[in-house]
Amino acid sequence: MHNGSPQKKSHAIYPGSFDPPTNGHLDVIARSASIFTTVTVAVVVNPQKRSPLFTLDEREDMLRRCTSAHSNVRVAHFRGLLADYVKEIDADVIVKGLRVVSDFENEMAFAHMNRSLSNVDTMFLMSDSAYSFVSSSLIKEVYLQGGDIAKYVPDVVLEYMHHKRQAQGRI
Ligand code: PNS
Repeated sequence: MHNGSPQKKSHAIYPGSFDPPTNGHLDVIARSASIFTTVTVAVVVNPQKRSPLFTLDEREDMLRRCTSAHSNVRVAHFRGLLADYVKEIDADVIVKGLRVVSDFENEMAFAHMNRSLSNVDTMFLMSDSAYSFVSSSLIKEVYLQGGDIAKYVPDVVLEYMHHKRQAQGRI
């Protein structure tokens, strides 16, 4: 950067359901933390797709514990429109991870709408190929069927999954 150029602001927001967080999410968070000054990981309170398995408090706690090594990452939550929350916290950019082409098709409309509503751009990080097939819903399905998910989630999430299964008798 040239001397005298205006200071670039770089507060990124990484929104999601995080039900639960996966290693793919953590990879995007770690890479964002090395690019941007501050990263707000923002948990949507009521994901529209489904009723969440984990409460808001649980999802925030998992994320806080998994991201504690990054001093510039904070975990928060929002209700309603992402575009409104982006303005509320004065974020400069929305970060999303892209795993496969179908992610892009959905995310393109979101990015246009969010920019139209809040004038904030969305920047996409290509997910690490190791996690291109990892999603929160698949993790829950595999776990429900007795599969081993240890490779795909951090230890704290694995513990939470075990506790949830014990508490509910099933997930
Ligand atoms: O982890 P997810 O479920 O893919 O995250 C989706 C999320 C939370 C980013 C998206 O559903 C969202 O932004 N929800 C807030 C409501 C909103 O702003 N909807 C219009 C999007 S253009």
